[in-house]
Amino acid sequence: MPENPQAAQAPRAAQAPQHARGSAPGPAPSGDPGSGASLPVVDLGSYGPDFVADPYPYYAALRARGPVHRVRTPFGQEAWLIVGHEAVRTALADPRLGKDWSSAHLERVVDDRAPLFTNMLDVDPPHHTRLRKLVAKEFTPRRVEALRPRVQHLTDGLLDAMLAAPDGRADLVEALAFPLPMTVICELLGVPSMDRDAFRAWSRELVSPTGPEEVRAAVVAMSEYLAGLIETQRREPADGLLSALIRTSDEDGDQLSREELIGTAFLLLVAGHETTVGLISNGVRALLEHPDQLAALRADGGLLENAVEEMLRYDGPVETATWRCAAAPVELGGTVIPQGAPVLISLASASRDPQRFAAADDFDLTRDARGHVAFGHGIHFCLGAPLARLEGRIALRSLLDRCPGLALDTTAGALTWRSGLLMRGPERLPVRWTV
Ligand code: HEM
Repeated sequence: MPENPQAAQAPRAAQAPQHARGSAPGPAPSGDPGSGASLPVVDLGSYGPDFVADPYPYYAALRARGPVHRVRTPFGQEAWLIVGHEAVRTALADPRLGKDWSSAHLERVVDDRAPLFTNMLDVDPPHHTRLRKLVAKEFTPRRVEALRPRVQHLTDGLLDAMLAAPDGRADLVEALAFPLPMTVICELLGVPSMDRDAFRAWSRELVSPTGPEEVRAAVVAMSEYLAGLIETQRREPADGLLSALIRTSDEDGDQLSREELIGTAFLLLVAGHETTVGLISNGVRALLEHPDQLAALRADGGLLENAVEEMLRYDGPVETATWRCAAAPVELGGTVIPQGAPVLISLASASRDPQRFAAADDFDLTRDARGHVAFGHGIHFCLGAPLARLEGRIALRSLLDRCPGLALDTTAGALTWRSGLLMRGPERLPVRWTV
């Protein structure tokens, strides 16, 4: 999923302090609990690479001190971080924590009114309502179910290619987790021959930024590319959602503007693949690290749907929701977040809160994982959830059916992780199977 204000603030990775590796937060402060401004600033950057590889112990320590914290992100941005399950759901449903950045004091790298960010995830109602309604009908469970044969066919083809490797080894991200959702969303939009390598690189920069110049360049390149794609389809309509959106009018005869078309194409293409990559790679990793759960799933196919929900709860691909801004002072869990404050909401932390899920750090395919917030909550709840679940279930079932002895390939070296607080997952996932 694309990230506007995160990209719009300077991602100062190079300046992030990397000292005090592995240190967890200390005991709760004894100051005035109601005054948010008196809270100490927790420097997430000081946790170093351990926080990126496994943020859960750090979130647990923060939750033990309270649901709301002042933090400095590893990119040096000051923000408010919400970590408790109940507070996370409350925050996601609070209209005062929205997408209006006019009262925020932020250093911008790119203009948040740029066409790319004219999309439903970056605006408040009524603009949000209008943009969401125009595409929502394409993502209902019934419409998505009709895609099942195609998703299965694509999965089979990708696994055929993967299993042709004579040494029985592959990087699951390259072989399946990336190309499956990317192909599905491109076909759905009617842009099957899109330049995926270029698009992937720009998309990656916007969801896991490496520097302000790189972000600016990716915004420009992606905007120009999508504008070109839309102009082409305006002249030569194709089968698919993009041409349908170009033609579409709502009941008032109101058409999508050029900016709204670019923003919507951007959101669907990026949200449609970046996240599902993480569902498949994080989920398969969790499964392969828990051989008892893997054996249980192989023995009982009926666990499949629950397995995907537990994967989303245990290690979902979206670590924090997209940035919000407090339009007014907001009291949450006994702390007041001031007006104009940038707010980060940790979905990863909420889904591991023991106050909501017993033995929350256990990966257990038989638990009732409902109530996880991997797809968010409130008006921005993931529009693509039915599609993501379909892809995740088909990918997982097919992978287990076709790969006997599937295991992590530990000879391929240590895993490296995607940067940034938005998305969570390994860059590559080396696996092996019995040939
Ligand atoms: C496992 C895969 C996925 C996960 C975990 C996921 C997660 C999320 C989350 C957490 C949000 C809300 C973000 C926020 O409130 O800041 C969101 C919104 C969204 N997602 Fe997904 N997503 C996934 C797959 C998809 C797919 C396949 C699509 C397909 C197009 C999609 C389209 C969207 C859209 C359009 C929104 C914005 C909804 C709105 O603003 O009303 N997502 N997603």
